[in-house]
Amino acid sequence: MKTALITGGSSGIGLELSKLFANDGYDLVIVSKFEEELNAAQTLFKEKHPQQKVITFQQDLTTENAARNVYEWSKSKGVVVDVLVNNAGFGSYGYINEMDIEKETDMIRLNVLCVYQMTRFFLNDMVQRDAGKILNISSIVAFQPSPFFSTYAATKAFVKNFSQAINYELKSKKSNVSVTVACPTSVKTQFQQQANMGGMKLFDSWMAVSPETVAKDAYVAMNSNKDLVIPKKFFHYLNELTQRLPTGLLMKISENQLK
Ligand SMILES: NC(=O)c1ccc[n+]([C@@H]2O[C@H](COP(=O)([O-])OP(=O)(O)OC[C@H]3O[C@@H](n4cnc5c(N)ncnc54)[C@H](OP(=O)(O)O)[C@@H]3O)[C@@H](O)[C@H]2O)c1
Repeated sequence: MKTALITGGSSGIGLELSKLFANDGYDLVIVSKFEEELNAAQTLFKEKHPQQKVITFQQDLTTENAARNVYEWSKSKGVVVDVLVNNAGFGSYGYINEMDIEKETDMIRLNVLCVYQMTRFFLNDMVQRDAGKILNISSIVAFQPSPFFSTYAATKAFVKNFSQAINYELKSKKSNVSVTVACPTSVKTQFQQQANMGGMKLFDSWMAVSPETVAKDAYVAMNSNKDLVIPKKFFHYLNELTQRLPTGLLMKISENQLK
């Protein structure tokens, strides 16, 4: 029986990913911040997949040593993580000087530092076993500077570039371990409220995809050892086109989308 560890696996895109892993017979380890959400997810999976193990670990992943705590706790439980999904993350929207510096610092800790450390800890074991997969959730905003989403977009650019570079290194060493990064467009989840984007039309626009579609496309890409996926093929082709545009124009388009 294989095990998938999913950060933020109790809601939104992470919950949909957890469902796909559970349907494929994986034992689940779900790590997130709120106990009630973790309990609800555990009940859901235990009812639907009584033969499989569902372990939850409550951890605020913005805190110092959070990734080390998760890693050491999983070791102490004898869990071998076959797939690590770095999904937990949140956004911060607005004019840079008007955004809460503490909230943005926590966002950097979660979206960047935690992804970095979780990857370092678990990848080491995977490379030693010459088996395993990592799926990192970035965003379409990773491809360009995004005014009014400046810090968030930069954190997601880190996730994208870090993931692709590691996957390249692994392939060049002929490793069987792979790293896939998913870069979704807007998805209607709790992310919207968390990022202070409530009421924004973007999440109901032609740019929006469902959490189910994001999870499905990311899951398929991960299983095919692809390095990068933009959920919904149309957005993949659209991104190929927009990447040819000058950065100034891209920022203008992005500003208009984020209104
Ligand atoms: N929604 C979008 O438009 C969109 C687009 C592109 C990329 N993404 C990325 O997709 C990923 C999933 O987001 P989502 O849309 O599914 O949003 P979501 O429903 O808000 O889910 C975020 C998950 O992250 C967990 N999390 C947040 N802060 C945490 C913390 N400090 N410690 C531990 N866990 C924490 C949450 O757990 P708790 O509920 O327990 O806090 C939740 O399970 C994020 O990385 C996000 O940046 C989202």
